[in-house]
Amino acid sequence: MHVETEIVYKLVHLKDWSNCRPHEGTALAVIGHPIAHSLSPVMHNAALAELGKTTPEFNEWRYFKFDIAPEELREALDLFHQNNFLGLNLTVPHKALVLEYIHTDVTAVEESGAANTLKHSGKGWMGFNTDGYGLNHALEDESVSIPGADVILLGAGGAARAAALECLAWRCASLRIQNRTRSTIHSLISHLKKSTALAGTTELIPFDSEDSELGAGAIVINATSLGLKAEDESPLDLTKIPRPAFVFDMIYRPAQTALLLQATKLGIKNANGLSMLVHQGAASLELWTGEKAPIPTMQQAVRAALS
Ligand code: ATR
Repeated sequence: MHVETEIVYKLVHLKDWSNCRPHEGTALAVIGHPIAHSLSPVMHNAALAELGKTTPEFNEWRYFKFDIAPEELREALDLFHQNNFLGLNLTVPHKALVLEYIHTDVTAVEESGAANTLKHSGKGWMGFNTDGYGLNHALEDESVSIPGADVILLGAGGAARAAALECLAWRCASLRIQNRTRSTIHSLISHLKKSTALAGTTELIPFDSEDSELGAGAIVINATSLGLKAEDESPLDLTKIPRPAFVFDMIYRPAQTALLLQATKLGIKNANGLSMLVHQGAASLELWTGEKAPIPTMQQAVRAALS
């Protein structure tokens, strides 16, 4: 049976899933608010079809997308379980909020205070975080290396926390954090100071573009949701800071945010979040299926969807 996985489902559909249920097998989903832009269903359904060629069981698995508001999250998690959903991905604004409702024994989740992947087990929803892994591999794809680098992190929400932890684990020289809500930067920095990933040598600093200590050659990472809408302005004016070596935006749709457009105009090497989407997704898929993720199929699916 063909399933239209590009439909954006809502809580109301989940409440009546047994009637509107588009298929009977194991289900997976990404949940966020907004969510229409997400390419996770295209990517994961292509991967499941590929796995199904050698293990027919995966032909019965489907991945959906749901628009779930923060106040609906708790009820939605119960309903997802009741309706045979084995795994979930979480995006804006749920990554940090979900911690209240899940179990975890994963250091990356405890120390970042954020989860992007859930799997249902006998204990309930278990939380994992594959964002840091995805970011690290995406930077590696671009031959950008975190150890010893000055990193400017834009954002202090769930995605930013995972990125911060990854940068600390890979021993960046300094981590500067900028956020619209300044108070969140300070709570994130005091949280990170307790992390086992923090080496004595890494400086943790709230960022503002007047920072006279910052030299050229930093890595800029956007982990805010500013840029998801075509009309969004850039979270940072790159002409106001010493020339960075690389600019990475976790957003992949639109493919070029205002931040990346400015980087390109200034001749600064940059990349959007497409490769991070694939690597974090591959790690999530492996957690759910226990199979090696078909990364080339996933890359091909997202590139085709964007072109
Ligand atoms: P996620 O789970 O994907 O990280 P989140 O936890 O809601 O989502 O975090 C979103 C991030 O984008 C936050 O850093 C948020 O800043 P605030 O802490 O001030 O809310 C940032 N963000 C969202 N909309 C923004 C906007 N219009 N301008 C600047 N930053 C924005």
